Amino acid sequence: MSELLNPALLWLGRLHPLLVHLPIGFLILLAILECAAGTTRFRAAAAARPLVLVASMLSALVAAACGWLLAREGDYAPGALAWHRWLGTALVPAVLVLGALGRTPGLAYRLWLAGTVVLLVVTGHFGGTLVRGEDYLLPWRWSERARDPRADSASAAPMEAASPTIYSALVQPVLEQYCVGCHGPEKAKARLRLDTAEGVFAGGDSGPVIEPGRASRSLLIKRLRLPLDSDEHMPPDGKPQPHPHQIALLEWWINLGAPTNRLLGELSLPNVP
Ligand code: HEC
Repeated sequence: MSELLNPALLWLGRLHPLLVHLPIGFLILLAILECAAGTTRFRAAAAARPLVLVASMLSALVAAACGWLLAREGDYAPGALAWHRWLGTALVPAVLVLGALGRTPGLAYRLWLAGTVVLLVVTGHFGGTLVRGEDYLLPWRWSERARDPRADSASAAPMEAASPTIYSALVQPVLEQYCVGCHGPEKAKARLRLDTAEGVFAGGDSGPVIEPGRASRSLLIKRLRLPLDSDEHMPPDGKPQPHPHQIALLEWWINLGAPTNRLLGELSLPNVP
């Protein structure tokens, strides 16, 4: 793709979070309008139906198209993305059918409108999950989330408090502090997740990021060790940078074979510079 077209498409994609609010607004307006048109006082509201229907159809189409462009950036948790993508895509034909039914508005039209609004809410929910994470709207999970950002990740072994592993006590906190904001459940840049051991070993777009036993050949370390002004340096310039001790610690752990089950108590700690 041409060098000009790509940023233009990216930009259009990034309008998605703004534009989605248009079909949401129009469809909800339509529902209110239909209820109002049933009353004697606001009967005239029905006159606005064709206009609001056309606005709903056009805005749904544009928002969905931008959504597909945005998804190409690939920074989203795949599960929630798939749901949001396909429900959002399904909304387009649903709204088009609504437009067709709206020409002779009867019971079918009203039922279809109700169904479309439900689909809209569910789609919006998965969209919110993509941006904010799962427990954003669940007040009873906020304290858990604040205490342990990995509360629901498979790497948090239940017996850890008594005998932490090297991984959970030393390695994961560094990744948590400096990397998970971009390589975690909410954003997974380069499809790399560093919030769980599984993610660390699964690697990203370029394949594995860790070569157990060989820190200097591991992409994760290479990217950390690049000069700060290199485009590929991690974390990107301008973001908080780990202390050299912390990088040395990650290297030590990889050179040890990158174990996830060895306990902290089993080892004598290295002299990090
Ligand atoms: C501000 C966001 C941000 C932070 C923080 C961040 N990264 Fe990245 N990372 C990116 C982006 C964007 C890419 C993809 C572009 C690239 O490869 O440079 C990436 C790519 C990578 C890759 C290449 C993955 C692959 O398969 O191509 C590695 C390895 C990596 N990051 C490691 C880390 C580590 C380790 C940390 C924490 C010490 C970290 N990143 C923190 C944004 C970030």
